[in-house]
Order: sequence, then structure tokens, then C-alpha cells
Amino acid sequence: MSTRTKIKALLESGKTDIDVTVKGWVRTFRNNQFIALNDGSTNSNLQIVVDFENTDPALLKRITTGAAISATGKLVASLGKGQSVDVKATHIEILGDSDPEKYPLQPKKHSLEFLREIAHLRFRTNTFGAIFRVRNTLSFAIHTFFQERGFVYLHTPVITQSDAEGAGEAFHVTNFDLTNVPRTDTGEVDYKQDFFGKSTNLTVSGQLEGELGAMALSDIYTFGPTFRAENSNTTRHLAEFWMIEPEMAFYNLKDNADLAEDLLKYVIRYALDKNKEDIEFLTQRLLDEEKQKPQQDRSELNLLEKLQFCLDNEFERLTYTEAIEILKESTPNKKKKFQYLIEGWGTDLQSEHERYLVEKHFKKPVILTDYPKEIKSFYMRQNDDGKTVAAMDILFPGIGEIVGGSQREERLDKLEQRMDEIGIPKDELWWYLDTRRFGGCQHAGFGLGFERLVLFVTGMGNIRDVIPFPRFPKNAEF
Ligand code: 4AD
Ligand code: MG
Repeated sequence: MSTRTKIKALLESGKTDIDVTVKGWVRTFRNNQFIALNDGSTNSNLQIVVDFENTDPALLKRITTGAAISATGKLVASLGKGQSVDVKATHIEILGDSDPEKYPLQPKKHSLEFLREIAHLRFRTNTFGAIFRVRNTLSFAIHTFFQERGFVYLHTPVITQSDAEGAGEAFHVTNFDLTNVPRTDTGEVDYKQDFFGKSTNLTVSGQLEGELGAMALSDIYTFGPTFRAENSNTTRHLAEFWMIEPEMAFYNLKDNADLAEDLLKYVIRYALDKNKEDIEFLTQRLLDEEKQKPQQDRSELNLLEKLQFCLDNEFERLTYTEAIEILKESTPNKKKKFQYLIEGWGTDLQSEHERYLVEKHFKKPVILTDYPKEIKSFYMRQNDDGKTVAAMDILFPGIGEIVGGSQREERLDKLEQRMDEIGIPKDELWWYLDTRRFGGCQHAGFGLGFERLVLFVTGMGNIRDVIPFPRFPKNAEF
């Protein structure tokens, strides 16, 4: 067992006059006497008071910003301001030196852009400490939510043959020697000679396999990495992101939307309870950042208020068709302020439209349903109008789409007909179609983008700052 006590536990214990050993990284060292020590358990540093007159000067020199140390001594009520307790050190040990001339993190404010370049060290800042503790809590909360409801956590494959979303944005997986790729007589790549004997890629979604699980286990969820080679260099897209995909037998679209709304509220509440201090810190961070902006660009609600607002209000539910009417009549559409003008029914919504609905029109999360079938995936259940499918997207303020899902087409003939229409090879998906042949039934599911959820809860502006090591076009460092 480790002989150290975590700083968070010490501060919360309310105890004094006990002997403790703490280990962590030096944030600052003032007057050869006061160490601000952080071990990542909380943003609150523990002050270590060094008896410098009785400490070897050579050791004092090695207490530098970034160094790892162990400090043993008595926990006492603090005389100074800003902390309730100090450790009066009787013994200090340097566990890892850090050259202050070369250490990239100085005790000052660094830009998020700079910190992205040193993502291996940014965990040591208050902002990233808070973000990754919140991320941890959210992922635990997701499991708790589903486990409490009897869902089975299903591990779907990372290497697949299918491009579930049919968007052709998959990364190929191969062990061919790329300087000498085997070809067939007709000059095509000969995948028969490849590792799997077929063309394979990294999964863009675990949904299709998830559906197979739901057709036996009733309620399943996946929570794993997902890969998309879309060349979108935006603050909302990653090439590698984590997705949660529940799939429920006997659910219709409304049940699906209810579950998604419950899930989002549950995990946000969970984080507010468990990481109050971190979210308060992030709220202040955002307020400070917004001070640089002109008044009209600042948020009406601060982060804490925004999260609370989301919990206190029902998400607005409307159909795509109703949304198009609102957007057509909206001021930015009439004044041609949208980059993509809404001309009529049938066009896909751009993020500017989604954000208008959520941030300007309804001013709360929105669940849009029943989209035109042409802009949605083949597996969505066709509505009786012949034009729309039982799709749902959940749109969040500041984020846009956070959830995408649908009721699934369980009728074999309708599904096959749709696959033929859009050219999805039925023979490759024989196993998927089998579930419609043998006990196929009404079912539904959705995908929640985990980083978009973390973005919302932390109030950060760029998705690259809420995953430890982001992957995006031209970047796979670390
Ligand atoms: O809307 P999407 O593409 O839906 C699916 O993949 C379905 N198979 C889900 C299902 O029904 N089981 O993706 C779902 C969510 C999006 O709403 C978004 O939050 C997130 O995944 N997402 C991304 N997040 C970060 N970077 C990207 N490139 C993302 N693409 C989608
Ligand atoms: Mg989507």
C-alpha cells in the first residue's frame, strides 16, 4: 500500500495535528519556505512549510516548479491566508528533479493553444486537472446510469468490415506493405491477400453489432473509441472520439428520446454533485475568458447556471418539418445572414441552423425528430408518410448535435428495399439482416458523442481540449 495520503482527502478530513506523508508536484516555491504542492486529486494546493534554516541548501535548490517530491510532517492549522492547513515538514525528499530553466510550464497563464502543444504536461495545470477529473466522473456516471437500469455493457469490435453510417469516412486497416500492394489481374487491390482476407476499417459506430446484442439481451450499451476520417478541422470534430451507443429492444422513438434526455440529465447532475469544485473553477475560468469579449458576445448564463438550467427544463421536442418552418421565417434567414440559406424542405441542417434553434429560438436543448430519409442512414425506420424516418438528433447550446439516433427499421422488406435504393450491399450485411429474419422486433437506440458531452459540462470551446491526446487532421502526436 502506498504510504502517501492524497491532498483532497487530507483537506476534506478536517483533521489537524496528525503526521502525514504527501507526494506530488511542486507548483511554486516561495521564499525558500513555502511549497505549493499538487497531486492532481484537487486543484487546491497543499502548502508545505519548510524549515529552511535546518535544511540542506543543496536540497532547497532542487525544490523547483515541476519537481516531484515527498513531504513528511505534521498537519497543522494554517497561519497564512488562502488555506486552512499546512504541513510543517520534518522531511523532504526529491523524487524527481525538474530543471526550472527548461520546464515548459511556468507559474503563469498559458494559452490553450500552447498547452495543446505540450499535451503531455498540460494535466498539471488547474484547467486540465479539472477537465480530466470531470471527464472521469462523466464516464463513471454513464456506466452507473445504465447499470442501474439493467443494461449490458457490450464490447463491439474496433476493426470492422462495415461502414455503418454509410458516409465513407472510415480509416482502412491493413498489414499490406504499402510500397508493394498486391493487385488482381484487373489491377484492383487484392484484399484476399490482406490480413483479414477482406477490406477492413476502424469502426465508425458500434451500432449494427449493438443491435445484434439487443435482439437477445434486450438493453445493451457500448462505450468505446470510434474513428472517422472526415476532414473537418472544427472545434466539434475529432478523428478519434468516444461514443456511447445504447440499443433497446421494444423501444419506439419516444422511449428512445426519453432515455436520452434522462441520461444527459443524470450524468450532468452526477458531475455537479461529484465535481462541484472543479465545475466552479471552470465557471470562473470561462467568466474570465469572456471578459475579453464584447458584451453582446458573452453568455447570458454562466456555466453553472447553464448546467442547472439544462436540468430544470424539459428539452424542446419538435419535428424536422416544424424546425424548417421556424428557420425559414427566422431573421438570419430572411436577412441572408446564414451561410447556407434555408430554401425549403429536404435540406440537411448545418450547425448554424442547429445553434440558432437552440441558442436563439428555444434557448434550451432541443430534440429534433422525423428527418427526411434522404439525409439519414439506411437503418432508420421509415415513417408512413413515405418521406421521413424516425430519426432524432439532440441539439445542445454551444455544441450543436450531441446525440444522433433513431428507431430502427425492423421490417425486412422495407430495410432491403432501402438498402437497394442507396446501394448498400446486402450480402455483406447478411448477419444484420438475419436479426430481421429471426425474431426481429421494434427497437431503437442512439449515439452520444462523449467529448461533446465533456465540452458542454466543462464549458470548454474546443473539443481538442477535452480528450487527453486529440487526433485530428495532420496530428497524432503523443
Ligand atoms: O450522429 P452519429 O454519426 O450517429 C451514429 O454513429 C449512430 N450509429 C448512433 C446510433 O444511433 N447508435 O454520431 C453520434 C454522435 C454525434 O451526435 C456526435 O455527438 C458524435 O457522435 N460525433 C462526433 N464527436 C466527435 N468527433 C466526431 N467526428 C464526431 N462524429 C460524431
Ligand atoms: Mg448525426
